[in-house]
Amino acid sequence: MKIIRTSNYDEMSKMAAQILEEDIINNPQITLGLATGSTPTGLYSELIKKYNEGKISFEKIKTVNLDEYVGISPDNKQSYNYFMKENLFNKIDIKEENTYIPNGLVENLEQECQRYNEIINDMPNRVQLLGIGSNGHIGFNEPADSFQEGTNVVDLKQSTIKDNSKKYFDGDENSIPKKAISMGIDQIMSADKIVLIASGKNKSKAIYDAICEDVSPNCPASIIKQHPNVTIIVDEEAAQLLPKDI
Ligand code: F6R
Repeated sequence: MKIIRTSNYDEMSKMAAQILEEDIINNPQITLGLATGSTPTGLYSELIKKYNEGKISFEKIKTVNLDEYVGISPDNKQSYNYFMKENLFNKIDIKEENTYIPNGLVENLEQECQRYNEIINDMPNRVQLLGIGSNGHIGFNEPADSFQEGTNVVDLKQSTIKDNSKKYFDGDENSIPKKAISMGIDQIMSADKIVLIASGKNKSKAIYDAICEDVSPNCPASIIKQHPNVTIIVDEEAAQLLPKDI
């Protein structure tokens, strides 16, 4: 496990973008496993910049997103589908048919999970980008008694509802969906490489638990220590509880 400390959010974003740029240049047909939320927006801006400078192309790239809320349409501004278009896809040369995100509006959620499982199984050479929840979730795999397997429907924890309603639903906990579809922990772990980014002091406990505590489904992110190729990029605030020698 490689841990990169950066001084702030911008540096974290640039460092992550540099890693993904190298991966894309080494394999222009790579699959990118992508995350949404406030953490990767700076990284996506950096990737757009690199695309505009002609350094990278997404023409042959496929993307597979980690998750989507249940019950909101892909056109809804609060959906992760919309987020990805606004923050990345509409600003680069990726083909829409090469981008995959669960559909949270389907009637049969089990069938949707199955469809997504097949998509992920079909995608070799994946670099998986992750954020981390303040409760240690990755994707929307919340703390639980066991690690979730396969794409699954998740009941969001109260802490996630609180965090995300503050950021994206004007603090209105009633309007945020309470369920989401998420890639499973085993599917995250099946990527060839994992890059986790974290910024801010509200992530510091989750980062400490993920890196320093034993692997436990109570902190889903703790499992990534077992992956052979993982890079964690943290800014100073997210790293504030880590021992100095890490
Ligand atoms: C979103 C996702 C989540 C977020 C996490 C952190 O696709 O997979 O695990 O990465 O909730 O969210 P932010 O970055 O908004 O703090």
